[in-house]
Amino acid sequence: MNQPKIITKLPGPKTEKIISKDNKYLSSSLTRLYPAVIEKGEGCWVWDVDGNRFLDFTSGIGVGSTGHCHPLVVESIKKQSECLIHMSGTDFYYPIQVKLAEKIAEIIPGGMNYKVFFCNSGTEAVEGALKLARHFTKRNYVLAFLGSFHGRTLGSLSLTSSKSIQRQGFGSLLPNVIHVPYGYCYRCVFNLEYPSCNFACIEYIEKEVFGKLVPAEEVGSIFVEPIQGESGVIVPPPNYFSKLRELCDRYQILLVIDEVQSGMGRTGKMFAIEHWKTMADIYCIAKGIASGMPLGAFAAKSSVMNWQPGAHASTFGGNPVACAAALTTIRLLEQKLIENAETVGKQMLENLKDLQKRFDFIGDVRGKGLMIGVELVESSSKKPLTEKRNGVLRKAFEKGLLLLGAGASVVRFLPPLILLEQEANTGLEIFEQALKEVFRK
Ligand SMILES: Cc1ncc(COP(=O)(O)O)c(C=O)c1O
Repeated sequence: MNQPKIITKLPGPKTEKIISKDNKYLSSSLTRLYPAVIEKGEGCWVWDVDGNRFLDFTSGIGVGSTGHCHPLVVESIKKQSECLIHMSGTDFYYPIQVKLAEKIAEIIPGGMNYKVFFCNSGTEAVEGALKLARHFTKRNYVLAFLGSFHGRTLGSLSLTSSKSIQRQGFGSLLPNVIHVPYGYCYRCVFNLEYPSCNFACIEYIEKEVFGKLVPAEEVGSIFVEPIQGESGVIVPPPNYFSKLRELCDRYQILLVIDEVQSGMGRTGKMFAIEHWKTMADIYCIAKGIASGMPLGAFAAKSSVMNWQPGAHASTFGGNPVACAAALTTIRLLEQKLIENAETVGKQMLENLKDLQKRFDFIGDVRGKGLMIGVELVESSSKKPLTEKRNGVLRKAFEKGLLLLGAGASVVRFLPPLILLEQEANTGLEIFEQALKEVFRK
């Protein structure tokens, strides 16, 4: 299997029927850019209800790290569900939750002196981290970054500033959240260039925010994605996070690293922050951790996660079946998949950079491992080409490749980490074809 297979017009007849029911019964807040109604998945491939086969470069928004229905993940889910499906870690102990917490403490940068809290999603991981940071520091202010995405429940939404539509209409969010510019060098708000900028964006926090808005002593935490995913796979420059770490240390501020999208091997390291050799006080994890079973977690230094019983809990968090899937996922990542993400990702990035040399509307190509973004712009002005980007996603879909958008005009590549080089090439050929047709080159 190395090519998509489209056997009906798109959308096909069964797809159309399901979408019309979806429109009737599901929330209108969901964002679907093209009509894909997926029935089954295997590895990097998915089939829609009409039997069309697509190459999946989305992994269900970065979740299916081991590919669709990896046999070993399926086996561990089956085995665990025959034994214990639910008990609730809030009021009871069970072995598999402890086993997974120990494993997470082993793999996160910083080693074994971290404790873990399990929940069910990325936004819950961020909510919990936010509560913990406030509880521990007793400081009210939080810093987050422009362009960040940390989730959609009211606490995490207060930190999110990816698209204003995500905040529109929800009234007052959490007070005391201050957003500052991120290390987005392609569109530096200070109009400077790395490295001669001397990290003006970090200096801004100290000089402008701490100097003029709020004393550093009232800031409890800084929440940051190592690579901003939803805003367009934005990769800060080398040493960016060590500078941020130094700033946090200077004022005893907790550094909270949101690895929900970039973690679990996606970037060719278990956690993306390892590329910057920096450690967090709290890590937020979800998406790729359990190959599609709903699981989230935040891990904090043991000295920080010392709140009293009753301070925080979750009925479903750390569900035994999700924990079983996570243990198998981590084993597969360690055995081979992180390395594969690094090698195949590197090759893809190089091929996309070659494409950039040929197409002037590709403003920037960036990423690490299998988390890659291609920013489509008007070459003279860097104006984002949103409509064209959406056209490329649609065209790629018609040709059998599933891609995601991000930011205003970025095409985002988040394939499963089992991706073979040949599959990567197939996807890139389709992507190139889609670009040519949309830009009529
Ligand atoms: C970095 C980051 N944090 C948090 C979230 C929220 O995760 P969830 O959708 O599982 O609530 C996301 C989701 O895209 C994310 O990318």
